[in-house]
Amino acid sequence: MSTALGYRAFGTAEVQEFFDRPDPMPGPAEVLVRVAAAGVNPLDHLLRSGNVPDLNGDLPFPQVIGMEAAGTVLKTGKDVTGLEVGDRVTGFALTGAGTYAETTLLLGESTARIPDSLPWTWAATIPVAGTTALDVLDQLDLPEGASLLINGIGGGVGIALAQLAKNRGLAVTGTGSTAKRELATKYGAVFVDYTAGSVVGQFDAVVDTVGGESLRAVAPLGKKLIAVGDPSVTELGGEFVRRRLDRAGLERVAELMAEGRLDPHITGTYPLTRAQEALALVESRHASGKLVISI
Ligand SMILES: NC(=O)c1ccc[n+]([C@@H]2O[C@H](COP(=O)([O-])OP(=O)(O)OC[C@H]3O[C@@H](n4cnc5c(N)ncnc54)[C@H](OP(=O)(O)O)[C@@H]3O)[C@@H](O)[C@H]2O)c1
Repeated sequence: MSTALGYRAFGTAEVQEFFDRPDPMPGPAEVLVRVAAAGVNPLDHLLRSGNVPDLNGDLPFPQVIGMEAAGTVLKTGKDVTGLEVGDRVTGFALTGAGTYAETTLLLGESTARIPDSLPWTWAATIPVAGTTALDVLDQLDLPEGASLLINGIGGGVGIALAQLAKNRGLAVTGTGSTAKRELATKYGAVFVDYTAGSVVGQFDAVVDTVGGESLRAVAPLGKKLIAVGDPSVTELGGEFVRRRLDRAGLERVAELMAEGRLDPHITGTYPLTRAQEALALVESRHASGKLVISI
C-alpha cells in the first residue's frame, strides 16, 4: 500500500483527501514508478474541479492529483521499450493515476531517462512546464534576434520560456505583477509590470500563459500569437500550443537542465503531507516559478 492525495468527487480544495492504495498495475504501455518528486501545475486543480471533463470526466473515483513526476522505475508494461527497472526517469502520468503519491503509473512513450546529475525536483518539472516551453518555441520557429513577448513570465511555463528563448538568441520581454520583476530580469528579460498600466509595443511573437482578458489585451501586439492555456486564442487569429508529449522532448529539456541552460526556478518544495499548500498557492494564480512535492 502507498499514500496518495486525491478526491472522491469533483470540487474545491475541500474534496482533497489522503488515502492508501495498492500500487497500481501498469498496463502494457505504462511503467510503475516510485515517485521521488512531483510538479505542481494549474491543470491539477482544474482536473480536481471537474473543469476538464474530456480528460477525467469518465474516470472512476478516487482520482489522484498530479500529472508529472520523476522517480525510479519499479515495473514496466510488456510493450514499453527503452526503459528498465531501476532507471531514473521523468514523465507524464496516466490521467487519474496521479503523482501526489508514493507510487504511480507513467506513460511509457511520454517517459524518459534523466542524467544522474539532475536533481529529482528539477526533473519533475520537465514534462509540463519544460516541454511546453520547448514546444512553443519550436512551433514559433523564430529567427535569432526576433522579439518575443511572454505574457505571464513569472510562472512555471513563463520562466522556462524566457530562458529557452534567450538560449535561441531572442529578445525577451515579459509581463508580470511587481513581485516578478527580479525574476524576469535575472533571466535577461525586459520586464513590464502589468499592475502599472497596459502593455504596449510590437513584437515578432507573443506567447500568452494567462488567458482571458489579459490574452485579449496582448493579442494585437504580436505578428505571431500562441497561447498555452486558453484555447480561445484561435478566435483572435492565434494558435494553441501543439503538444508533442514525446520522449525526445523530455530528453532535450533534461539535457538543457544538465548543461546549466535551463533552471526551472523552484520556489517551494513541499513534503507529500503538505501538498495541499503547494496546490493552493498555484490555484491562487500568482505563484512564482515552480512548486514541487518531494516524496
Ligand atoms: N497546454 C499545455 O500543455 C499546458 C502546459 C502547461 C501549462 N498550461 C497552462 O498554462 C497556464 C500557465 O501555466 P503555469 O504553469 O505557468 O502557471 P503558474 O506557474 O501558476 O503561473 C501563472 C502566472 O501567471 C501570472 N499572471 C496571472 N495573471 C496575470 C496577468 N494578468 N498578466 C501577467 N501575468 C499574470 C502569475 O504571475 P503574477 O503574480 O505576476 O500575476 C503567475 O506567475 C495555465 O493556464 C496552464 O493550465 C498548459
